[in-house]
Amino acid sequence: MNVYDSARMADVLAPAGFEMTLAPEAADLVILNTCHIREKAAEKVYSELGRLRTMKNKAASDGRTMLIGVGGCVAQAEGEEMQRRAPFVDIVFGPQNYQDLAQMVEDAARGGSILKTNFPARPKFDSLPERRYEGNATAFISVQEGCDKFCTFCVVPYTRGAEYSRPVADIIAEASAQVAAGVTEITLLGQNVNAYHGVVSSSAPGQEKWGLGQLIRELAGIQGLARIRYTTSHPSDMDDDLIAAHGEVDVLMPYLHLPVQSGSDRMLAAMNRRYTVDQYITIVERLRTARPGIALSSDFIVGFPGESDADFDATLDLVGRVGFAQAYSFKYSARPGTPAAGQPNQVAEAIKSERLAQLQAELQTQVRAFNAACVGRVMDVLFDRPGRREGQMLGRSPYLQMVHVIPGEDEADALRGRILPVRIIEGHANSLAGTLVDGALRSENDPVALGASP
Ligand code: 5AD
Ligand code: SF4
Repeated sequence: MNVYDSARMADVLAPAGFEMTLAPEAADLVILNTCHIREKAAEKVYSELGRLRTMKNKAASDGRTMLIGVGGCVAQAEGEEMQRRAPFVDIVFGPQNYQDLAQMVEDAARGGSILKTNFPARPKFDSLPERRYEGNATAFISVQEGCDKFCTFCVVPYTRGAEYSRPVADIIAEASAQVAAGVTEITLLGQNVNAYHGVVSSSAPGQEKWGLGQLIRELAGIQGLARIRYTTSHPSDMDDDLIAAHGEVDVLMPYLHLPVQSGSDRMLAAMNRRYTVDQYITIVERLRTARPGIALSSDFIVGFPGESDADFDATLDLVGRVGFAQAYSFKYSARPGTPAAGQPNQVAEAIKSERLAQLQAELQTQVRAFNAACVGRVMDVLFDRPGRREGQMLGRSPYLQMVHVIPGEDEADALRGRILPVRIIEGHANSLAGTLVDGALRSENDPVALGASP
């Protein structure tokens, strides 16, 4: 979401003459787009700001002005406190305010110290300029923002605000324009993306609302769009239509990130997750019936307040029962203002570390096994960028695995932006290696039709 937001900030600033640069020390304006989800992410902001302060002072001694802005959820959560703690920051703005960034920069350039963290009544999407094509085969499109779930550990409902779904027509228009420009894979974004319930068009309010399944079916009709993904989902919003879409929509990729957080019903209730372990497993089974071979990924939190050894063992048990192709796991981090942060039964840091290591070892074994099982298969790979090694190209499999290929001499450029069949020859912890299937590049056929189905 922050990658998407940063690109939209660049869109907002482009008419004012700003261009992206990879050299912050020479920039006129540096914006940190920040994350508040865990303490570690939030802490990084201040160490990063320390470095930017040095750059700003250096610029001033060279007779240049460097403005510093902090956007995103840390800015939203800390607001004035950030202005106090880092007075050299010129602009502090929340995730719902960046449509006004050009004006904020103008005011800051006149010497003001700007703070904007309100939740405007008019959806920010209505005030954003038309989106540019970023030159990649893949694009994110935000379809939903905010969250009304209030899991007891999570800051998102406070920093991103209440759930809002963009109208269907706006999403289709944005997707169609991106595909016409060269995008072949779209990832639909939302903090709670499968809670999507958008009106068809903003000009005809009061009409029926569409769910995510319906939206995906409509997007699948865009000629040239070869892949659709969506993230992040809540298990209790996996409705019948969305599960059915996984079986019916070919371009919906057979990979789903479905955070479970814990395998203990007691912990799930304390987290206010609104499902039980059995319900989660039933959803997984239904997804696997609808789309055999669908690969699953998840998020886990260890050391939530009150988590016992038995609760943690239940999480390991769930991991064994489901089998994940990818996973992200975290130590519980007490976030200011959330209900769980004030609970007296916090778990000791050493226990959290021990449990995290144990869980990660188990998950890593599963991910490696999944990757190893891909060896020998032919998979469609969407190539999108060069790798670090000479001549190497990187792409993504249908299961979102990173795939490395070293094509023949002078072939690398021809791969870029295309979906081509690759024979997988090695499976690693975080990636696969493969070789292009003979003749893949010579074919005049639609590259999408060429690949083996996932
Ligand atoms: N502590 C640890 N992990 C958290 N997450 C969200 N809030 C916290 C927290 N307070 C994790 C959840 C979520 C992912 C995006 O971040 O697992 O799914
Ligand atoms: Fe946070 Fe996701 Fe829970 Fe919403 S559903 S409160 S974003 S963890």
